[in-house]
Amino acid sequence: METTTSQLVATLHDRLPAGASQFLTASLPAAVATTAKAIAPSRPLRIAGALAAAVAAYRIIKALTAPRALRTLARVGPLTTIRVMLRGLGFMETVDVLNEIVRQDAERRGLISPGEPIPGAWLAWFGNWTVTLANPADVKQMVTDPATFEKVMFDEVGLDLQHQFFGTNVVMSNGEEWKRHRKVVNSAFRRGWSTHFFGDVGRDLVAELDKLAARNGTMDPSDWMHRAALDALCVAAFGDPLHAVSNPDTKLLNLYHDLLRDIFNQVGNVLPITRLFSRRTTQKRIQDFNEFLFQIIDKKSTEMRATSSIDNDDDEQRARRNLLELMIAAARDETFSREDLRANLLVFFLAGHDTTANALCYAIYLLGLHPDVQAKARAEVLKAMDLDKEAASVPARDAPYPTNDQQTQLHYLTKVIKETMRLFPSIGNIPFRRVTKDVTLASNGMTLPRGTITVVDLIALQRSPRWWGPTANMFDPERWADGDEAMHPTDWAWAPFSGGPRICMGSQFSLIEQRVLLAMLLARYEWNTVGDEAAMQEMPRTVPGLLLQPIGIRVSMRRRE
Ligand code: HEM
Repeated sequence: METTTSQLVATLHDRLPAGASQFLTASLPAAVATTAKAIAPSRPLRIAGALAAAVAAYRIIKALTAPRALRTLARVGPLTTIRVMLRGLGFMETVDVLNEIVRQDAERRGLISPGEPIPGAWLAWFGNWTVTLANPADVKQMVTDPATFEKVMFDEVGLDLQHQFFGTNVVMSNGEEWKRHRKVVNSAFRRGWSTHFFGDVGRDLVAELDKLAARNGTMDPSDWMHRAALDALCVAAFGDPLHAVSNPDTKLLNLYHDLLRDIFNQVGNVLPITRLFSRRTTQKRIQDFNEFLFQIIDKKSTEMRATSSIDNDDDEQRARRNLLELMIAAARDETFSREDLRANLLVFFLAGHDTTANALCYAIYLLGLHPDVQAKARAEVLKAMDLDKEAASVPARDAPYPTNDQQTQLHYLTKVIKETMRLFPSIGNIPFRRVTKDVTLASNGMTLPRGTITVVDLIALQRSPRWWGPTANMFDPERWADGDEAMHPTDWAWAPFSGGPRICMGSQFSLIEQRVLLAMLLARYEWNTVGDEAAMQEMPRTVPGLLLQPIGIRVSMRRRE
């Protein structure tokens, strides 16, 4: 037994860094001896038990030890990460703390000068060691070459609940399977987006906000924007609003929110053991939500069999179709199953509403902190929509919203939207990729061995003084040049919708939704932001999880005279 353990220690000594091997040399023999003693009814069993314990210890230490080829990067390790995550901070606060640790590590190693911003690439641990990128050249490389940088699937990193819920769809697939999904889903997105999808929801919204304004009350923009965006998404995705704006407490909405909380639980994802007692409840919620999706699909498929062909639509008719109709129509020529439809409809729910809701919420928040920007955006809206003073006093059901043409003239508002999404990208990361072969990183020539996981930190990228200068952390819509309204990255220091072949399919949808809802609010109200100290310092707290959703901000709305 002694020999076996010391041989193992010697082998590990060669393969592990100094700290880990010292720890092993000191602790492994004692751990093996104790384990063996405790479980040892017979000698062969003792040996087997001791070896199993040693192998388990080796695996744990290996998982916790930074890969040798990547150790030149600044890093933050698992124990620190877990300690920070257990503090229960919000998403943005967690990123801030962890990135400052990385920055200090980079300083200590001489990779950056004292006080310089975080480097463009570093090593972090999110259950797996991950090369985190925040350098335009590397971001471009990662997202434009999906054959080398394959999307990491949930089940590959032990997120089996998520895998079960998402299934295989346009977000969760690679290679030929991804092309099959993207082809069908893309045909549903290849169209204009009629502003009525958002204008009708906007009218429901202002009907509620009018009541609040009449009481001189303050509102939580996060709550209202989530409900409005969900209604808009449901109309656009399958033709039916959930009426979340006027009726926030339905069984379905509660189910959806509980499910999201379960699925995107930051600690649960990094430490699956913490899900031990909640797993069955989550599985039941998944089942209930899937039933809801299947019902919608079956109803729409039946309706479509009875109606005239979608293929004869002109552009105007197509712009008013919902996504599910177009997807079912496109799926007829492909091998696309009922489950394929469910998994992609789910994507619209998950990708298509919280994201835009958060973007809208931050835009309202920032406009409320910057009255000059708000006034300039309002002047543009009133001009583009040809509205006079009376427009703010019409009944909510007639509240004006921009036509399809008018929304394209909201250039300054678009700058506000882009600048908001720079400072607060609704999703903090461009999702994880795994390199399929050894690859040289564009920014620093370092080789990432095959199998390395990468991710883009959008907050570090889009707030870095390296790419945005000394005013990087300030809200300044004027930094965007006239005509610079693309939602795809141009210089790759701005990429909230990602880029390349897997660019977000809903970027135009989201842009038009944001323009319409913000235009309606600007035409009807003036507002200012109030809130806790963090909110007033332009760095509101956020909820824990994967999305940037602010907490602690409120907005005081007044009807315009
Ligand atoms: C502010 C709003 C939004 C943001 C910030 C956003 C951001 C993103 C990001 C970062 C990705 C990952 C791309 C990658 O892996 O490289 C993505 C993918 C995707 N988004 Fe969005 N999104 C938004 C709204 C929407 C909406 C409204 C929809 C649909 C109604 C949508 C549908 C999709 C789909 C289908 C994909 C998968 C594309 C693929 O992998 O081929 N998104 N989005």
